[in-house]
Amino acid sequence: MVLRKKTTTSHSQKRSLITKLAPKSSISEQYRTVRTNIQFSSVDEEIKSIMVTSADPSEGKSTTVANLAVTFAQQGKKVLLVDADMRKPTVHYTFQVENIYGLTNVLTKIKTLEEAISHTDVEHLDILTSGPIPPNPAELLGSKAMLEFLTTVEEKYDVILFDTPPILAVTDAQILANLCEGSVLVVASGKTEIEKVTKSKELLAQAKGKLLGAVLNNKKMDKSNYYYYYGTYGHK
Ligand SMILES: Nc1ncnc2c1ncn2[C@@H]1O[C@H](COP(=O)(O)OP(=O)(O)O)[C@@H](O)[C@H]1O
Ligand SMILES: [Mg+2]
Repeated sequence: MVLRKKTTTSHSQKRSLITKLAPKSSISEQYRTVRTNIQFSSVDEEIKSIMVTSADPSEGKSTTVANLAVTFAQQGKKVLLVDADMRKPTVHYTFQVENIYGLTNVLTKIKTLEEAISHTDVEHLDILTSGPIPPNPAELLGSKAMLEFLTTVEEKYDVILFDTPPILAVTDAQILANLCEGSVLVVASGKTEIEKVTKSKELLAQAKGKLLGAVLNNKKMDKSNYYYYYGTYGHK
């Protein structure tokens, strides 16, 4: 395993993680709620491999999966965040590392896992960037090498989280849903159309993915919401 040099990242590519910068904030608390819900969604067998997807681009997949990775690591779990979005990878921007090699190199056996994985400054959290964008992402994700990869990382980590491309655009997310023990669907509040959410759910079911739940991203909270929560708390 290596610690890679930080890249110079342009302002537009720079992303901050609220769970890392402000772990005590109410938003970080909500990511912890999502973590708890994931853990409770399967009581008998612990879910280790989880993919996070959404219907369309820019709905918050990468933001959600990265914050969840930090949140699981903050609980003391050994976490690996894998950038399986070989169409528009961003994990290397979020953690400000180079993306010269990563998952694609491991799957094509050009690099070993140890060579490709990076530690982060978050304790217990390792990342595997996408690596060079291949011409055939779906083929790589559906390969025997991918199965071997999963078996290996499941032995080494408590939780493996996958960032993915939009499920309505390409088949990659379906392939991952089939491989992973659980799937999480991100829905952009006020943006994702209900038909697209339904279609995404159908595609996950077709892939025999276990949908653990949905995350409503970017929900605007105002005072009336807070009042509502306080008003109903304890009366359900
Ligand atoms: N809840 C949020 N609050 C503020 N900005 C967000 C939120 N979710 C996503 N974003 C921003 O929106 C953009 C798209 O989000 P991203 O997570 O990259 O989406 P996706 O991976 O689905 O394409 C990014 O610039 C990200 O920082
Ligand atoms: Mg993304």
